[in-house]
Amino acid sequence: MKRILITSAIPYVAGVKHLGNLVGSMLPADIFARYCRSRGYDTLAICATDEHGAPVELAALEEGVPVADYAAKWHAVQKDLGEKFGLSWDNFGRSSSAQNHELTLHFARKLWANGFLELRTTKQAYSATDGRFLPDRYVIGTCPHCGYDRARGDQCENCTRVLDPIDLIEPRSAVSGAKDIEIRESTHLFLKQSQFADKLRAWIDSHKADWPQLVTSIAYKWLDEGLKDRGITRDLEWGIPVPDDIADGALKGKVFYVWFDAPIEYIAATKEWADRNGHGDAWKDWWQGGDAVTYWEFMGKDNVPFHTVGFPVTIMASGEPWKLVDRLKGFNWLNYDGGKFSTSGKRGIFMDKALDVAPADYWRYYLIANAPEGSDSNFTWEHFAGVINKDLADVLGNFVNRVTKFCVARFDGQVPGEGDYGEDEHALIADLDRRIAAYAELMEQAEFRKAMAELRAIWVAGNEYLTRAAPWTHIKTDREKAAVGVRMGLNLVHQFAHLIWPVMPDFAKTIHECIQPVGYRGGVIPFPEEGMKVLLDDLTPGQPIRAPETLVAKISDEQVAELKERFGGGAA
Ligand code: 2FM
Ligand code: ZN
Repeated sequence: MKRILITSAIPYVAGVKHLGNLVGSMLPADIFARYCRSRGYDTLAICATDEHGAPVELAALEEGVPVADYAAKWHAVQKDLGEKFGLSWDNFGRSSSAQNHELTLHFARKLWANGFLELRTTKQAYSATDGRFLPDRYVIGTCPHCGYDRARGDQCENCTRVLDPIDLIEPRSAVSGAKDIEIRESTHLFLKQSQFADKLRAWIDSHKADWPQLVTSIAYKWLDEGLKDRGITRDLEWGIPVPDDIADGALKGKVFYVWFDAPIEYIAATKEWADRNGHGDAWKDWWQGGDAVTYWEFMGKDNVPFHTVGFPVTIMASGEPWKLVDRLKGFNWLNYDGGKFSTSGKRGIFMDKALDVAPADYWRYYLIANAPEGSDSNFTWEHFAGVINKDLADVLGNFVNRVTKFCVARFDGQVPGEGDYGEDEHALIADLDRRIAAYAELMEQAEFRKAMAELRAIWVAGNEYLTRAAPWTHIKTDREKAAVGVRMGLNLVHQFAHLIWPVMPDFAKTIHECIQPVGYRGGVIPFPEEGMKVLLDDLTPGQPIRAPETLVAKISDEQVAELKERFGGGAA
């Protein structure tokens, strides 16, 4: 049996994520995981919150709560919202877990023992008033290039020049406003990434054919620019402390860099899953399962360097047989009304507010059908309403309503058994068999936009058939002929539930409950392995069915206007 391990980039714990975050990692990972489960593959879907790093520490400081409490609170919020969006993780872990502390130390010790870490002295901004080192972007001052007076120590927002904190005129602390910024020396652990350049290149070469070009081009760009060694510790309090047995206590009081421990959390979250569910060493079977396991990662393009260079180097340098990613699915950006989604700028649609507007399945379908796969894609309220009204209401919803309502009205809500399928039905079945196979193959490759186009084509074919079969016309003169059309239609409705489950699990469930096929017990709605054939016998003549309440409600022009007003937009 195929074994599929799936991780989505773990979102920073601070705050609610926007739909751009969702469509770039968690949603496609979930749709893929559900698809794999629907095929009966042994599937494990892992995500977590990314809880360390300076931004989290400072956000907690701003709220005036201990960082641990802050992280716990937002983890719970994100877990809840994810579940409301139908994200069916096997575990949604926390990078601050005991398991991640343990595994991060395991890797760091291995890397140290194998000679791939070394001590280096760096220069960093320090404020005596704050009593701490300040990460570059927490030093603000006047930009030496353009005079902007709130430039950050890593970059000027106004003229986009890359800066060093020492470049700033009149630097001050973003934490307290303190002006006593001095440059102090600080010792850190560096991972000798440069030694892995050839090995990484060979590994990336071996994936040229099965990773998106977006991903390989980013990876090659990093390699071509020359791999730099990377500092993996920071002068922060919140994080995973560097133990004394590494470098004889030279790094006392320092923690590992968030980008060192975050990807290790993929493994640790799997251990959290095993520990919680009594699965013993099963987490290791997943991560050290060799070729028996196919490991898929999902992420936005900004995360690609850390997953094609950073994390792989950690794994290679450990000398242990942990899995490297097999299929890396990277995404471009989803923009909001022509500009960027922005968490700090509160621009765009956030997961909590989105659910006030429409049920999760509307969003899941819209977002994945327009996923930024080949290039960036753009959200507008008009486009959203257009897709929902056309694809979901007019095509899918209308089909389900027409068939089920007609069956209720004219066949007492029972699957009609009269008559035999004729030429048109057999042609339709053959056509759909082909299309379902094509849809499956696209889902197998996580080619979501194309898969959704095929799915839509299947719904359209169903509608066209029904229009030709016209049972509402034949019912007056030839009940048997009408019965054939309704029976075929009901089988298609049932089929659609199976096909849409990975994308729209709630609709699939609603349809299934109305159709009540033999043997349905809830949970995973399996993929129709043999195309149409298997499902043709799942509805028993004479069995009852119901019509769902309106499956998909249209979004009116007035609503669109109101949503634009409420959420804002226009140029960034
Ligand atoms: O970009 C982000 O939201 C990061 N927190 C992703 C981390 S992915 C992984 F490496 F853990
Ligand atoms: Zn500037």
